[in-house]
Amino acid sequence: MTTIRLASRRDRYGVAAMMQRSWIDAYPPMVPARHMRRDKARGIERWLAERMKWPGYRALTIGAPRSPLGVCAFFPVRPGLFEIDLMFVAPGARSAGVGSALLSQAIATIEERHAACRLWVGTRNTRAKRWYVRHGFVHTGLKAHLRWNGFMWQVDEMHRRVVSPRVSGGDRPVMPEPACPAPGEGRERGSDPRP
Ligand SMILES: CC(C)(COP(=O)(O)OP(=O)(O)OC[C@H]1O[C@@H](n2cnc3c(N)ncnc32)[C@H](O)[C@@H]1OP(=O)(O)O)[C@@H](O)C(=O)NCCC(=O)NCCS
Repeated sequence: MTTIRLASRRDRYGVAAMMQRSWIDAYPPMVPARHMRRDKARGIERWLAERMKWPGYRALTIGAPRSPLGVCAFFPVRPGLFEIDLMFVAPGARSAGVGSALLSQAIATIEERHAACRLWVGTRNTRAKRWYVRHGFVHTGLKAHLRWNGFMWQVDEMHRRVVSPRVSGGDRPVMPEPACPAPGEGRERGSDPRP
């Protein structure tokens, strides 16, 4: 597998187009295809460019800028907590370990900061939910609704606690994050992105 690297400006269009192919392939019937086809790759690229300006936002990718195999993006929500914002693999590259390699790298980076992480996944996206469980995430029971081109879909929160102990300052383990962040914490999900 090619090396995982931080996505830069020149990756943005390829990543945006790959994300669109990925969700058009994977999300029906959870999200009707007609809602997703209204997006244009250039519009998704602009949306991604705005996110990439957020403090601490990191997008990891694999593959050439014009034909990336996948993306995993994450950002700090508050001290001690990151959110996995984007997790997409190109349809032709799935089930070959690309997603696991990207997510493991993201988790390793988050763990280096002794932080927990959370994500939002479509309530009906059972394959992805099972996959996240294999990567150490648990359901918190919190649900939200996302508006996407006029379509409202329900998403579930999943959380992964801090696993590695903090080494400096003695061998005391880090207290785990609460399993479920308080409702209302973090960003408004109302018109936000695709989980
Ligand atoms: C979920 C996803 C990121 C996993 O990446 P991947 O490279 O396919 O995963 P890996 O090769 O590391 O692991 C394979 C597992 O991924 C899961 N998977 C494969 N295709 C999938 C799909 N279309 N949708 C959801 N999960 C899928 C399966 O659990 C698969 O296990 P299996 O091969 O035993 O069935 C990727 O499949 C994907 O992009 N899915 C569509 C978009 C999506 O649902 N993203 C999550 C948004 S929160």
